Amino acid sequence: MTQGMKERVFSGVQPSGNLTIGNYIGALRQWVAEQDAYECFFCVVDLHSLTVPQDPAQLRAKTREVAALYIASGIDPEKATIFVQSHVSAHSELAWILSCMTPLGWLYRMTQFKDKASKQQQESVGAGLLNYPTLMASDILLYQTHGVPVGDDQKQHLEYTRDLAQRFNHLYGETFTLPDIILPKTGARIMGLDNPNAKMSKSEVAEGHAVYLLDKPDVVKKKFMRAVTDSGREINFTEAPEKAGVNNLLTIYQAVTGQSQQDIEMYFEGKGYGDLKKTVGEAVTELLKPLQARYHELADEGGYLDEVLARGAEKACEVASTTLSQVRERIGLVGVHRN
Ligand code: TYM
Repeated sequence: MTQGMKERVFSGVQPSGNLTIGNYIGALRQWVAEQDAYECFFCVVDLHSLTVPQDPAQLRAKTREVAALYIASGIDPEKATIFVQSHVSAHSELAWILSCMTPLGWLYRMTQFKDKASKQQQESVGAGLLNYPTLMASDILLYQTHGVPVGDDQKQHLEYTRDLAQRFNHLYGETFTLPDIILPKTGARIMGLDNPNAKMSKSEVAEGHAVYLLDKPDVVKKKFMRAVTDSGREINFTEAPEKAGVNNLLTIYQAVTGQSQQDIEMYFEGKGYGDLKKTVGEAVTELLKPLQARYHELADEGGYLDEVLARGAEKACEVASTTLSQVRERIGLVGVHRN
């Protein structure tokens, strides 16, 4: 099959903190699996990070770090297009156009907006936070994307993207492909180690909450040893809320080892929570070893990363500007004409 015939996949991560094993299990790992079957675009969504206050030097460093972690996770820049969102101005432009067609009610309903806005002083909540899903929809729709591999927390944003695409297609004629969400079979929602009833998040600062992809082996193991469990002793996959900690550890183990639930439960039969934490901690350490080694190699030769991002921006621009031209034409924006 030629490249042009493959269906497209688009996804992104915000450079707004340290990437966690939740980001890896929910998103990055799936991306690696998809890069042969699809034409993939993997974006570092720096403009999304601006929706909450950022330190400029930190944002700059994290943007490069996230791009390097894509490659370190196994995404091959020769197969997939890796780029920085703000390098392709079509994203902002389409976001403006689509925001003019978005009913405010759709945006106020978004749980991520409600969560994040409630954590800030009302006066300091930026308008960008409300409009966040429109920028995300623009990311996806610009590439006529078929599949979006993400974690469970992005479901509502994907539904919004489809609604918006349908609305546009209805008003102006078939323009956008309707994207499908691609969720991982295991680990679509990894929970915090300190609180197994809250999603593991890179923007949560509590020590012991998240395992970061660049944590040193002893730190990883220590965080798992301190993971919150319960006062029981059963080691089984379960939906029971009071056993969420154990279930989360088992889910991480399953995602990392690829073993069946049955095999895993058999393996831990008769063992204690201490064994469970130790085993999962070691499995995650092993998983991260090669990733960290590749990351440090990349960090040592910065020129390569710049070149990948420059090439990525060029490729992404080509595709995005084709869609944007169609949109401009459909809605009646006049193009530049020279005689
Ligand atoms: P972000 O940066 O919060 O997270 C990046 C990816 O990691 C997944 N994820 C998780 N998966 C499982 N368990 C967890 N605890 C966990 N935490 C995070 C997220 O679902 C996501 O796939 N809005 C997006 C970024 C974005 C985007 C896009 C994604 C912007 N434009 C276009 C896809 C397509 C976000 O905030 O992801």
